[in-house]
Amino acid sequence: MSARAGSLWERRVGHVALVLLLGGCSWDTPMSTVAGRSDFARSILDVYAIITWATVVIALVVFGVLAWVLLRFRDRPGAAMPRQTHGHTALEIAWTIAPALVLLVIAIPTVQIIFRTQAASVSPDALQVTVRGWQWWWEFRYPGLDVVTANELYLPVGRTVTLRLEGPDVIHSFWVPQLGGKRDVIPGRVNHLSFTPATPGEYRGQCAEFCGASHANMRMKIVVVPPDAFDRWVASQRTPGLEPSGAAAEGKAIYARSACVGCHTIRGVSSGTIAPDLTHFGSRATFAAGLYPNTVDDVAAWILDPVAMKPAAKMPALGLTPAEARALATYLTGLK
Ligand code: CUA
Repeated sequence: MSARAGSLWERRVGHVALVLLLGGCSWDTPMSTVAGRSDFARSILDVYAIITWATVVIALVVFGVLAWVLLRFRDRPGAAMPRQTHGHTALEIAWTIAPALVLLVIAIPTVQIIFRTQAASVSPDALQVTVRGWQWWWEFRYPGLDVVTANELYLPVGRTVTLRLEGPDVIHSFWVPQLGGKRDVIPGRVNHLSFTPATPGEYRGQCAEFCGASHANMRMKIVVVPPDAFDRWVASQRTPGLEPSGAAAEGKAIYARSACVGCHTIRGVSSGTIAPDLTHFGSRATFAAGLYPNTVDDVAAWILDPVAMKPAAKMPALGLTPAEARALATYLTGLK
């Protein structure tokens, strides 16, 4: 290889290395664990800070001693063999106690945060939401508000929310890095998770416990809005949808006579409980646990072949014609 080609090769390697290095520097990304937007996420950051600074101090001491030993006892012509030591009781006790103290310093705030955020009742006016993890989507029920939705959780900023985590099928884990988690959603038991969102915005979440073929596709979105916008959202979710017309009316008829009604709820039309509530399906920006934009085209494609769009999806293909699927999608996306 010529010197010229070599330097080009080196430059390329250099560029790739730089991209990889700087790629690790991104801070405020949707799944960032170091850009806390709730009291819980910030508490976790505080523990990170303790661990980071303890690590820095320990590293300085260890590398300092190592450097001193390397210099002090390096081989020199004519130097005598250093004194050989076998066993040192005081030193061994010290380096047993020191790590135990470090662990204690980390454990105290960690345990405090766990107990504070997993209590069933943290505040009398906390918003209560029941979170159910299903293969492979999230159900959100607001028992006090008579609202049920899926995959998109609306929360008012500045108000504590207590999530009641239930698992109807297998173990999942609720994780919204910028707000809180991870906390397991376990069949047969109830876990709680409380936090107070500090900043309005949209936050991404992801199931964090392997739960089967579409675990990676089990996403969610948390929308934190000002209290008045939250009240408007609740009011619109409680209002029955408008009576559809045209293609949407045809879609409603198809819905009502198809297998849809066995699994889904649309208030006033059907009351299935093992699939997402579709009463206000059209008000959600995405569907299939955050995988696709909520458009007529994508919903129609989904109705024709759900498994092609989300591996192992529990929804069966209904055997509808493309025209029927499109009418049904028009009805569903119109349910604002
Ligand atoms: Cu649910 Cu992974």
